[in-house]
Amino acid sequence: MILSWFRKDKKSENKKEGCNTKQKVARFNEEGAKRILQKIKEEFGLDYERQMSITIKKLERFAIKNEIFTFEELFEAIKASSRLKSELINLLTVGETYFYRELEQIEILCGEVLSGRCSRILSAPCSSGEEVYSILLYLDEKGYISPSLHITGIDINSDALRQAEIGCYSKRSISQLPQKIVQKSFTPKDSRFCIDTKLKSYTSFTYANIFDPRFEEIGRFDAVLSRNMMIYFNDEQKRRAIEQLSSVMHTGSLLFLGHADISFTPKGFKKLQKGRTSYYQKQ
Ligand SMILES: C[S@@+](CC[C@H](N)C(=O)[O-])C[C@H]1O[C@@H](n2cnc3c(N)ncnc32)[C@H](O)[C@@H]1O
Repeated sequence: MILSWFRKDKKSENKKEGCNTKQKVARFNEEGAKRILQKIKEEFGLDYERQMSITIKKLERFAIKNEIFTFEELFEAIKASSRLKSELINLLTVGETYFYRELEQIEILCGEVLSGRCSRILSAPCSSGEEVYSILLYLDEKGYISPSLHITGIDINSDALRQAEIGCYSKRSISQLPQKIVQKSFTPKDSRFCIDTKLKSYTSFTYANIFDPRFEEIGRFDAVLSRNMMIYFNDEQKRRAIEQLSSVMHTGSLLFLGHADISFTPKGFKKLQKGRTSYYQKQ
């Protein structure tokens, strides 16, 4: 089924080159888009079945911007260029995140850190870093951050990772934070708010796909936060994702998932409950 036709007017360019006016015709079809999305699903777990038409529109716009006029051509171009693939993943994975999201979990985790049971934490995925810095802001408020604490953030969206490294946020993004924390730990800069460099020194941000067969090489962690990513995965992918996370945890490590992420207790984990908040411990 042909989805859309697009004529890119090359008249002016061709005039400059001194050749006859030729028009490039774009021809996008649903099958071609599905083939690209299937590849993305296999590699990253992302399932766009429920937002198919809007995702296909995004693919079309992305292709045209890159002077590509069929999905077959786009498929080959993504295969050949890791830069192009990364740009497409960035476009498809713009995820909402904000400071102090699901704060009860952050409080429980920080309790573990303060009692000395947790010093290596993984935020998978971290998006633009708000989750990682929320832990540090909370601990800073409590008055002590151990020098041995380290929080690693991973994601497949390289734009988000860059923003996490820079650590500057919009007013909207910090709106959940108490004003005294904003005043203490952020410096206003060009209408953004930049986090204290001392807090940044406890973090590192790196590109990693949770489904990468070499995922476990990123190290071992006392606690893993994996919140609001699995909503994009089907049940089989959720189970695979949890196996991958389990491979970077030791017995006793804690796992915090978003409240809508899974509807089953992950295999090899015990469910813990504090008030209305649940989390898991690796057995
Ligand atoms: C909604 S954000 C969640 C950020 C944060 N954990 C939170 O709860 O606010 C979802 C993130 O998952 C990332 N993501 C999706 N699939 C991934 C994968 N296979 N490996 C690593 N990150 C992935 C996306 O790039 C996006 O930044």
